[in-house]
Amino acid sequence: MSIHYAFPEGFWWGSAVSATQIEGAASEGGKGKNIWDYWYEQEPYRFFENIGPEVTSDFYHRYKEDIQLMKEIGLNSFRFSISWSRLIPEGRGDVNPEGVRFYDAVIDELLKNDIEPFVTLFHFDMPLVKQNEGGWENRAVVEAFADYAKTCFQLFGDRVKKWFTFNEPIVPVEGGYLYDFHYPNVVDGRRAIQVAYHTMVAHAKAVEAFRKAEIKDGKIGIVLNLTPSYPRSGHPADQKAAKIADLFFNRSFLDPAVLGEYPAELIEILKAYDHLPQTEEGDAELIRNHTVDLLGVNYYQPRRVKAKDHLPNTEGPFMPEWFFDAYEMPGRKMNPYRGWEIYEKGLYDIMINLRDHYGNIESFVSENGMGVQNEERFMQNGIIQDDYRIEFFKGHLKWLHQAIQEGCRVKGYHVWTFMDNWSWMNAYKNRYGLVSVDLKTQKRTIKKSGEWMKLVTRNNGF
Ligand code: GAL
Repeated sequence: MSIHYAFPEGFWWGSAVSATQIEGAASEGGKGKNIWDYWYEQEPYRFFENIGPEVTSDFYHRYKEDIQLMKEIGLNSFRFSISWSRLIPEGRGDVNPEGVRFYDAVIDELLKNDIEPFVTLFHFDMPLVKQNEGGWENRAVVEAFADYAKTCFQLFGDRVKKWFTFNEPIVPVEGGYLYDFHYPNVVDGRRAIQVAYHTMVAHAKAVEAFRKAEIKDGKIGIVLNLTPSYPRSGHPADQKAAKIADLFFNRSFLDPAVLGEYPAELIEILKAYDHLPQTEEGDAELIRNHTVDLLGVNYYQPRRVKAKDHLPNTEGPFMPEWFFDAYEMPGRKMNPYRGWEIYEKGLYDIMINLRDHYGNIESFVSENGMGVQNEERFMQNGIIQDDYRIEFFKGHLKWLHQAIQEGCRVKGYHVWTFMDNWSWMNAYKNRYGLVSVDLKTQKRTIKKSGEWMKLVTRNNGF
């Protein structure tokens, strides 16, 4: 096989997962409830085919087998998240020894197999006790998070060197406080902005705790879902719409996390609409002094926008959509199952933007993947022939390769995801894995894309 796209030596080939989506054992091992356990109890009908997070892929019991499969595919790194409510069931206070044992065992098993653990501290799963105290709306929860982070650095920092405070911190803001797809299903722009702000403060406090922990060779980062905003046209109103969408959805976390301050234009908008969050003295300094070392970029789809066709209803809740409309570009390539546009060059545009406007910060693709419904129909002799997924990866990797050629400091590519898993409200609707999981038997089988990935990892390119 001749290699057209060779990646730099030591490139991180891997995958990402999150605790709630794979562990299962939701009420085992001393774990406390999180918002997903609770919401599913309350409203199971809101989850695809009524499937909740109780079992998922049962990684809690099968991690050894799964890590062997990762090794077989040749992955050299793996990002998973610690479940806050498994480690500290009440969110603050006593540490659950069974939780510690589990994460110790996973970390040791990874290292034994030459797979580097990358650990996320928060991937959408607020402990219920903390949510009942107001979740990210309550400043005290911010302190609890900083404590939890510190505990993790102390417990696992001897072996884990790559840490991420949050995965896609804007998603719980969108889901929980604007668009009704995460608990607590609040729809309120003012509260959403407070939640986003407190999340950022919690992030900065965790970075501060990390610096104090002095983890040898350790790096701390954040994982953001960057969705480049493309305007419909060169018309100034379309350009402005795209700029504002970028402020709300990308720069709201990217700028403070990497540059240490919020974009002035965003502050101006919130001020003009009387929606600035409550802050405390010292916050700006905290954020300024605690920027990240490393940025994870999740990329699935671009955001295309246009100037608004109609004035917003200003009696309704304040929404980012007061400033732009979504634009469906004629001829766009779609993943019809997930309803997301596929635009491979978006990944290149993100990386060039990081190179030119964010000090060329060290980064990696921390999630990229394709969800497909009813994937069993592509099964032949027990193996899913997911050529579409291979095409998806190739298309993105070509652009990533180009970005690296042009000087972007991209260190790796992690797919979403290693094995089929439970996707929040969508449960098992769309499958993403390199490995399929039979929901009845929990049997794992490497898909065609997993076989392809074996070659990629072996050749460090394709
Ligand atoms: C991401 C998220 C993951 C996963 C993925 C696929 O936004 O970080 O948890 O669900 O989407 O839907």
